[in-house]
Amino acid sequence: MTWQVAFVTGAASGIGRATARLLAVEGAAVAAVDRDEAGVSGLVVELAELGVPCRALAADLADIGALPDLVGVALGAFGRIDILVNAAGVTGDGTGCSTWARATGSSSTE
Ligand SMILES: NC(=O)c1ccc[n+]([C@@H]2O[C@H](COP(=O)([O-])OP(=O)(O)OC[C@H]3O[C@@H](n4cnc5c(N)ncnc54)[C@H](O)[C@@H]3O)[C@@H](O)[C@H]2O)c1
Repeated sequence: MTWQVAFVTGAASGIGRATARLLAVEGAAVAAVDRDEAGVSGLVVELAELGVPCRALAADLADIGALPDLVGVALGAFGRIDILVNAAGVTGDGTGCSTWARATGSSSTE
């Protein structure tokens, strides 16, 4: 079988996890990226049980410098990337400084 390769951020939960599962069921290998290491590892175990090639990549994407290494590991594991799903993000309950800081990884004072 020829696998499409999906690079999915935010893959530990919510939209990213659901999309990674769907793509896997549809025939994609998955490079699953999230700062939640336990969550993304759990997804990889689940997908491996379905026979889907997958790789957990634990990283905080607020550190943009980590991205080239993540892409390099995915390319090393699968040879190419066909699909990009960028679902990493935070859900805020307002527009205050703490929500901004969580979304951007910056520090703030209120
Ligand atoms: N769920 C919705 O109905 C909805 C609607 C519109 C927009 N959104 C937006 O879509 C995004 C995802 O929503 P969700 O419901 O899947 O949220 P979620 O919290 O269930 O999942 C987000 C994932 O992104 C990861 N993540 C966050 N910041 C990260 C970082 N810096 N590095 C690596 N991983 C990181 C988290 O660990 C988490 O696993 C959010 O930005 C949300 O605001 C969601």
